Amino acid sequence: MQIPLVDLHAQYRAIKHEVQAAFEEVLEHMQLFLGPQLQAFEDEFATYCGCRYAVGVASGTDALALALRACNIGPGDEVITVSNTFIATVEAIALVGATPVFVDIDPLTYTMDWRRLDAVLTSRTRAMIPVHLYGHPVDMQPVLDFARLHGLRVIEDASQAHGATYRGRRVGGFGDIGCFSLYYSKNLGAYGEAGVCVTNDQAHAENLRMVRDHGSRIRYQHEVLGVNARLDELQAAVLRVKLRHLDHWNAARQEHARLYTEHLQELVTAVPIVQPWGTHVYCYYVIQVQVTLSRHLDSVPQMGRSPCCSSCSSGGHHKWLNAPVEREPLWICNSFLISGSLDARYCASSVCLQE
Ligand SMILES: Cc1ncc(COP(=O)(O)O)c(C=O)c1O
Repeated sequence: MQIPLVDLHAQYRAIKHEVQAAFEEVLEHMQLFLGPQLQAFEDEFATYCGCRYAVGVASGTDALALALRACNIGPGDEVITVSNTFIATVEAIALVGATPVFVDIDPLTYTMDWRRLDAVLTSRTRAMIPVHLYGHPVDMQPVLDFARLHGLRVIEDASQAHGATYRGRRVGGFGDIGCFSLYYSKNLGAYGEAGVCVTNDQAHAENLRMVRDHGSRIRYQHEVLGVNARLDELQAAVLRVKLRHLDHWNAARQEHARLYTEHLQELVTAVPIVQPWGTHVYCYYVIQVQVTLSRHLDSVPQMGRSPCCSSCSSGGHHKWLNAPVEREPLWICNSFLISGSLDARYCASSVCLQE
């Protein structure tokens, strides 16, 4: 039996009338970008994250690259992150010309291990990108303390953690800038590509708004070198509808995760844990199995690494996680500094059951 990891139709059926009304409103006015829907989405998402500003962009990758640029990170700078993230985190660092440096992960939460930050700090370190991976928050306070001590910028990659909390506050607003992918399969996803940055810093918000729109504040006046990374009105309209349902959908994910854990914990090597200082929103429900079992499953044609949702042509009911980023062919030929070790061992045995 094939059970898709993401069932977009089921979600759409529940919100169809709201989505259609929102699309209708945009199409009636035909203002297709930088209009009232984007403005309203930015206000609502900033409030949701407990931040002063939100800036909609075209993807999570753009959010990260623009955030790094806003923090003046560029060639010669090193940025500490983790290698078990999706490649976009590392890509964004490389896109601004900086060098990614990998720190090992905490074996319980699979997120940045702040105890090991000292080992990868150099005189060129300028920033860190903690990733709230799978929907579990990073232990942010020690990361922020380390950043303050060494004068580093902190950009949160919250692409898998919309609505997750750390010590009672939603993630995204702890560092200088928080970045979210709004890719269609995320906890909060558009019907296409989208992303958003949140910040409490007005200068960062102005810079992000300018750079996402060809470096201009006033139409056809271009002050800095920018890009085309605007979040369009149709996507903003659907995101506003979905944001109203996000907490309810996250609660449903938590209930599904509870049931998975109840039934799997005796059978597998590890089920997800939730630290007392955080809440998990299960963008992915990831278990670990014995490496021999994962190799066996990989060899079964309908169970190997597969696209995973109704938008992809083949639906699988689980998927293997990414190899550590430094093992990707793209990076193997580059000389990045690497300190990950646990990441590789854990990637070989991890399986994702819910997305
Ligand atoms: C942790 C993480 N960072 C960044 C991204 C990139 O987001 P996008 O696909 O919207 O560019 C993703 C998307 O999958 C992600 O999971």
